[in-house]
Amino acid sequence: MKVLLTGSKGQLGSCFQDRLPAGWKIWATDSDVLDITDLSAVRAAVANFQPNIIVNAAAYTAVDKAETEHELAALINKVGPENLAVAAKEVGARLVHVSTDYVFDGTASTPYIETDVTNPLGVYGLTKLDGETAVAAVQPEAIIIRTAWVFSEYGNNFVKTMLRLAKERDTLSIVADQRGCPTYAGDIAQAIIDLLQKNVSGGVYHFCGDKEVTWNEFAQSIFSIAVCKGRLSSSPEVKGISTDEYPTPAKRPAYSVLNCDKINAVNIDRSHWVNALDVIICKI
Ligand SMILES: NC(=O)c1ccc[n+]([C@@H]2O[C@H](COP(=O)([O-])OP(=O)(O)OC[C@H]3O[C@@H](n4cnc5c(N)ncnc54)[C@H](OP(=O)(O)O)[C@@H]3O)[C@@H](O)[C@H]2O)c1
Repeated sequence: MKVLLTGSKGQLGSCFQDRLPAGWKIWATDSDVLDITDLSAVRAAVANFQPNIIVNAAAYTAVDKAETEHELAALINKVGPENLAVAAKEVGARLVHVSTDYVFDGTASTPYIETDVTNPLGVYGLTKLDGETAVAAVQPEAIIIRTAWVFSEYGNNFVKTMLRLAKERDTLSIVADQRGCPTYAGDIAQAIIDLLQKNVSGGVYHFCGDKEVTWNEFAQSIFSIAVCKGRLSSSPEVKGISTDEYPTPAKRPAYSVLNCDKINAVNIDRSHWVNALDVIICKI
């Protein structure tokens, strides 16, 4: 396999490089090397490298900031993936694109399947959904993976924020009425590799962690593992608050659990996020 990776310095991009199978050739690019919003640069890079796979780990992921940066978010999350799909098609490469649980409005009470109706509540989710649609229109055989609540030893994420706050405060108030599935970026990277090796058919696949929690419960898991591993001397007191008590610029779905039966059917397991957290917490 000859893979062009975008967003190489992000959480997923970094984990993907760590897991690259032997014999796969990669050109790992980040925004400083290849700006995915620049169609002519994307075309030139793809024509020059001639990949058979393009993995798009690049994205605008600042959920709250997106509310005031709609144009930039749309450029990176919609136009960027579309550019990659166009360039991929020109050289016969297959695109793997990554999307989000925030394409849903969270009014469901059972896990979302791939064909459920989307209705993003915020600009980030909307631009990611537009990206999915644009990619699928240009390249129906593209693989689109929707994932959720991503964490890793790299970049910025909830786990790192919690560990920092635990050192600064004795008590933390964390939202206890939004449910989702934490997902380790390393497991997403491995799922992408497995999907490519199995040469699955194109379309949307849901992939997320195997245990649904609230942000509050996720924080408590982080603290108990961190204390157990000696990463924190003690856990802060964790209070539960409602979404209304923690207003943010972007509305978030109250329930964004993804049903992973489709990806499970090709023998790819969900992310065992507690195990992953246990391993990476000391690397943070
Ligand atoms: N993080 C989550 O909780 C979460 C949840 C659900 C789904 N997802 C999806 O999962 C995927 C991976 O997320 P992540 O957490 O790994 O993201 P991340 O850590 O924020 O990394 C995103 C990367 O994209 C790069 N990038 C931004 N604009 C670019 C451009 N114009 N051209 C090229 N590269 C650009 C960034 O580089 P710079 O730093 O140089 O800008 C950064 O390295 C994304 O599609 C995201 O939407 C994430």
